[in-house]
Amino acid sequence: MSELVSVVLVGIGGYGGTYCSLLLNQGSNPVAKIVGVVDPFAEKASFYAQLKEKNIPFYNTLTEFYQQHKAELAVISTPISLHCSQTCEALEHGSNVLCEKPLCALISEAEQMLAARDRAGLQVAIGYQWSFSSAMRALKADILSGRLGQPKRLKTIALWPRKDSYYARNNWAGALQNARGEWVLDSPANNACAHYLHNMFFLLGATPETSVGLKSVQAELYRANAISNYDTCIFRVATASGAEVLFYSTHACGRLLGPVFEFEFTKATVNYARYASGTLAEVTAKFQDGSQKLYGFPDADGVSAKLWDTIRAVRGQGTISCGIETAMMQTICINAAMQSCPEIKEFPPELVYKMGVPGAQVKVMTGLAEYMEQAYHSNQMLAEVCSEPWVQPGKVVSC
Ligand SMILES: NC(=O)c1ccc[n+]([C@@H]2O[C@H](COP(=O)([O-])OP(=O)(O)OC[C@H]3O[C@@H](n4cnc5c(N)ncnc54)[C@H](O)[C@@H]3O)[C@@H](O)[C@H]2O)c1
Repeated sequence: MSELVSVVLVGIGGYGGTYCSLLLNQGSNPVAKIVGVVDPFAEKASFYAQLKEKNIPFYNTLTEFYQQHKAELAVISTPISLHCSQTCEALEHGSNVLCEKPLCALISEAEQMLAARDRAGLQVAIGYQWSFSSAMRALKADILSGRLGQPKRLKTIALWPRKDSYYARNNWAGALQNARGEWVLDSPANNACAHYLHNMFFLLGATPETSVGLKSVQAELYRANAISNYDTCIFRVATASGAEVLFYSTHACGRLLGPVFEFEFTKATVNYARYASGTLAEVTAKFQDGSQKLYGFPDADGVSAKLWDTIRAVRGQGTISCGIETAMMQTICINAAMQSCPEIKEFPPELVYKMGVPGAQVKVMTGLAEYMEQAYHSNQMLAEVCSEPWVQPGKVVSC
């Protein structure tokens, strides 16, 4: 292994730009070097010119890259449908992998990724940045030490308006499958807000690097947008720890809220609020004896930590706090939610209005945000707090 870890960047437009920026701005003590870029539409990326200037070779496929080069680490920031095949191909060619969240679409793909990793004897990190953040790791350490007592209920709400331009930015946003018939399962729970669902499973894991197992999932799935998957979901998950996990998320709302969470333990309650009435509160545990502990902000350092931690692990130093098994519980939940609610319910069109100017409009379901908040505060599903004719409860599905 050379002194600098060799990195191939797979997908540099969109979120991949974050990794371009980190690797191109390492300062005077670099730890990694970019040895290739794989992206068939690389010229559209904002870092294209900067990478070209450095004479980094560009390829359309990983296969073409590996015909001429090797890399110790492949950083994959491509559409969800490619995560499994590209991770497996990178591992077969001797590269460790840092793949963006979510892990993949289907459980069968997660199993293929696990098998490929074990065959290769290499490491795979999944880019849920909160799991690499100092705040969440410190909180998890206290949970594991028993300081907070037994977990009772963890719940998170994230109401994130998304414009039509969000759904038009690529050909897989909001899709169940892409044009080639590959599974994507793109939704708030499997993309923009997947972090917050995964985070609850991660915090309940029995070790610093694992997530809790799932026993059952009950879901409600709805859509306001013209997409094949859902833009609104509510999940109730029974976990192997005995604690309940509740998750509320939508893109069909007119105002931003969250992530806001409340995690109840027998000896403490942990709260966090981003974008709640314009406030930003750090992760805070309030103990029954009246004391409190501040854990900091989970967005402070996770993004850079996931890259530098993975590079350290490739060098044989330190561990990866979110690998395939850790991220897989979110995949299991997403797949079970589809079984719980096989038909996605369309909100009645007469109740969906457009907010904003054409080209940057959000489809808003009347009253949805209020019902979601009510359900969150009362620890219930939407169908339990709302008696409108459009509600559709899902069945409880064993995992
Ligand atoms: N961690 C985070 O906070 C965060 C935020 C946003 C997106 N993401 C994740 O990043 C991934 C990409 O999302 P995005 O919104 O940037 O998508 P995108 O579609 O906007 O960009 C994907 C990039 O992959 C490239 N690409 C397409 N096909 C390719 C192929 N066969 N080989 C190599 N490159 C290919 C595209 O040209 C583009 O540059 C998703 O998994 C998403 O969930 C993570």
